[in-house]
Amino acid sequence: MNTTYKIAILASGSGTNAEAIMNRFSNHEYIAVSKVYSNNADAFVLERAKKFDIPTAVFNKQELHSEEFLNSLIEEGFDLIILAGFMWLVPAQIVSAFENRILNIHPALLPSYGGKGMYGHFVHEAVLGNKEKESGISIHYVNEKYDDGDIIFQAKCAVMESDTPDSLANRIHKLEHQHYPEVIEKICLQNN
Ligand code: GAR
Repeated sequence: MNTTYKIAILASGSGTNAEAIMNRFSNHEYIAVSKVYSNNADAFVLERAKKFDIPTAVFNKQELHSEEFLNSLIEEGFDLIILAGFMWLVPAQIVSAFENRILNIHPALLPSYGGKGMYGHFVHEAVLGNKEKESGISIHYVNEKYDDGDIIFQAKCAVMESDTPDSLANRIHKLEHQHYPEVIEKICLQNN
């Protein structure tokens, strides 16, 4: 078994999922969140990481696509890269270097309501607009396309007639916080 299974988190915004994951693995026997990356210097996820004393880094699009960035991910020795509300496509060279080692969470039941432009509240607005009776979360491996890799886990929740995008987002967030850390832990266990 590895002494420590090293996780990197990539997030663009508030980072409630990132926090649930950092919480789960702070003081974990053999899994640690080693670094939190963001494409947004103002993202609140960076504040959340500080609370856990986890190093952070910010990159722009050009840096994300550079060979230096890929090499730094490899040199850091990450075992798993977790996208937690990360809104940019992951470059193909990172996907291929970390094949089956990059996970994303999506706030709907893929393959429905996925793809470019389908993120955050846009997803919930579309689900409500179509008067769906249920929605949920999907955790999947990341490939070169948006929301397209093999699905690892899904959980469903009801959509109420009275729901607003915010109330549905809250219900979905609860599911995400409950299941994402759990699924990550299972994958680390399998790979150890
Ligand atoms: C989460 O609901 C996540 O599923 C979604 O962004 C939110 C981030 O919230 N991701 C996508 O829409 C990706 N297509 P958080 O910053 O509070 O974790």
